[in-house]
Amino acid sequence: MKLTRRDLIKTGAGASLVPLAGKWTSLWATGQPMIRTTIPSSGQQLPSVGIGTVKFRGDPASAEMEPLAGILKLFHQLGGELVDTSPNYGNSEEVLGHLLAELKLRDRVFMATKVDREDQAEGVERMEGSLQRLGGRIDLMQVHNLRGTDAELETLQAWKEQGRIGYIGVTTHRNSQHAEMEKVMRNYPLDFIQVNYSLADRAAADRILPLAMDRGMAVLVNRPFGNGELFGAVKGVDLPPWASEFDAQSWGQFFLKYIISHPAETLPIPGMTKPHHVQDNMGALRGHLPDAGRRTEMEKFMDGLI
Ligand SMILES: NC(=O)c1ccc[n+]([C@@H]2O[C@H](COP(=O)([O-])OP(=O)(O)OC[C@H]3O[C@@H](n4cnc5c(N)ncnc54)[C@H](OP(=O)(O)O)[C@@H]3O)[C@@H](O)[C@H]2O)c1
Repeated sequence: MKLTRRDLIKTGAGASLVPLAGKWTSLWATGQPMIRTTIPSSGQQLPSVGIGTVKFRGDPASAEMEPLAGILKLFHQLGGELVDTSPNYGNSEEVLGHLLAELKLRDRVFMATKVDREDQAEGVERMEGSLQRLGGRIDLMQVHNLRGTDAELETLQAWKEQGRIGYIGVTTHRNSQHAEMEKVMRNYPLDFIQVNYSLADRAAADRILPLAMDRGMAVLVNRPFGNGELFGAVKGVDLPPWASEFDAQSWGQFFLKYIISHPAETLPIPGMTKPHHVQDNMGALRGHLPDAGRRTEMEKFMDGLI
């Protein structure tokens, strides 16, 4: 059974309270359905937590790849599909191409990468390189940080029509680019945007997320933990008791469920290179989500700590 974020928000956070102790395990054991995000332009659904791979770097032939291979394997085992990378993240594309082929997972992930060139011909060359390095289909190609947007989106639209890529989008991680992003969202038929949004940094909720809903665009959310800053803010602080109403067993799940429960079609892509972080974050795909009232409580709670 597929359950979308919308179904869960409608159900209401307090609809079925489960005792806290051991709940996380029992949620998995009972095979609760996985929370999914719908891509409005196609209706395709993806598990609502992806993985960011800015730290996936190193010599693909060396033993130092083993922990990263373990991360991808675990991510897949726990239901993950969307992998976000960029030719800009050191040799992350090469590492991913290598590891996913070795793990025989290349065709089982939804691969998102980026192009970051002003010049159209250079952009084409850059994207041909990504296709080679990733060794398979690119589901989503995004203009990185709005660099060369008009030139690159012309190519992206043509490649999409030719079936060379599945979806197109644009990214930013800076509030100073939100006004420019808004213009691009109004001018182009994008399938996705990618933006910074977290309990530490909520500016995208003012205009960008509502516009994404109006324009029918899915939203990848980068920096879902404010690049780890949120964990610093809650060091030594217990989860509020009401977090159990929406099945948040950890701060990681609390932060991710805040993003997933926004009424836009959101999908956070936390960076994670430790197995216990993958285990923790993928737990946010199960159970209930906070409703609008609880989301406000979450904001107030975090504002008291940051
Ligand atoms: N303009 C753009 O397009 C743009 C800009 C920035 C980021 N991005 C994308 O967004 C992704 C996410 O952003 P980010 O990696 O910068 O920041 P982030 O996801 O907000 O934070 C990542 C940090 O949180 C830690 N972490 C993850 N899960 C945790 C958990 N459950 N408990 C405690 N700590 C946890 C990670 O540690 P470990 O690594 O040790 O597990 C890492 O240090 C990037 O990887 C990239 O794909 C895109």
